[in-house]
Amino acid sequence: MQPIQAVRWSPDCNAVRIIDQTALPERYIERDLRSLDDVCAAISSLAVRGAPAIGIAGAMGLVVSLASFDDPATERLRARIAVHAQRIIATRPTAANLAWAVNTVAAAAKEPHASGREALRAMRAVADALLADDAAMCRRIGSLGEQLLGDGARVLTHCNAGALATTGIGTALAPVYVAAEHGRQVSVLACETRPLLQGARLTAWELSRAGVPVRVITDSAAASAMRARRVDLVIVGADRIAANGDVANKIGTYALALQARYHGIPFYVAAPTSTFDPAIPDGSAIPIEQRGRAEVARINGQAIVPNDVPVDNPAFDVTPADLVTAIISDRAIHYPPYRFVP
Ligand code: MRU
Repeated sequence: MQPIQAVRWSPDCNAVRIIDQTALPERYIERDLRSLDDVCAAISSLAVRGAPAIGIAGAMGLVVSLASFDDPATERLRARIAVHAQRIIATRPTAANLAWAVNTVAAAAKEPHASGREALRAMRAVADALLADDAAMCRRIGSLGEQLLGDGARVLTHCNAGALATTGIGTALAPVYVAAEHGRQVSVLACETRPLLQGARLTAWELSRAGVPVRVITDSAAASAMRARRVDLVIVGADRIAANGDVANKIGTYALALQARYHGIPFYVAAPTSTFDPAIPDGSAIPIEQRGRAEVARINGQAIVPNDVPVDNPAFDVTPADLVTAIISDRAIHYPPYRFVP
């Protein structure tokens, strides 16, 4: 079976090739992002999504967006890079990975270069390295995290923190994939993840494709599943982790952490180094993306909320560190008290 490649270069290397995640599970479509507008639209619309994947797509997209800029002066190139980087970073504010990856690639142009062309080559090399590193970090998270999964482990997860959300085997799903590779029987309960249904559409798609038993439940069924002892542990991903271990992740994660605590079920967060933001002391400073009304108020084009009733649509919430049993990074399994330093 072909591995999922959520983000990669197109064969001519002039575009970022993504799997259009808005079409799954009904249709598998790949799209090539060739301009700044393409890149920003794909990230904003969640055609490419998940903290690590938007970081890599944004970083590669920055390179692609400058391809037609043939001014050889590096000063003018740097000014252009700053404008493009700002636009890409502004598409989604919560995931630490996006600004980190885009700024890392932009920084490659700051070193002295003989020409704009050479600066662009350096940026592309850094984007290549980020692409490979992300996959390697996922693998390490999987190898560390699998020790938390005994034979027969039943994992509950939220949203999609799998291969579709990264350039490798995912973060929250990485321990599941590695345990399955090692012949252990593991199964997953996937919360559907209102309003955009990443759990139902994406986590279910990629796990069933990989032959890992998966069952979808509504978000509101999670507490009952825990009470019925159908869940051994919860593993979720993260969009940003503050210095004190507070975790921003898909809306609904906080409720799951509370439910897990009440039922005595371990609650794990899996994330690569690029998701940690030790410059932020705690979760109160994490910017939470607010998305549009239609995602909540309409289903299949039909209104499900009266037109005159306002809607809130925060895409993420913050789970306080004291509800998190451990954080599985690519470096270690971190236990409380969390004190991440830059
Ligand atoms: O809005 P999304 O689909 O980009 O949200 C994704 C999540 O919340 C994931 O759990 C998180 O980005 C980690 S992905 C490895």
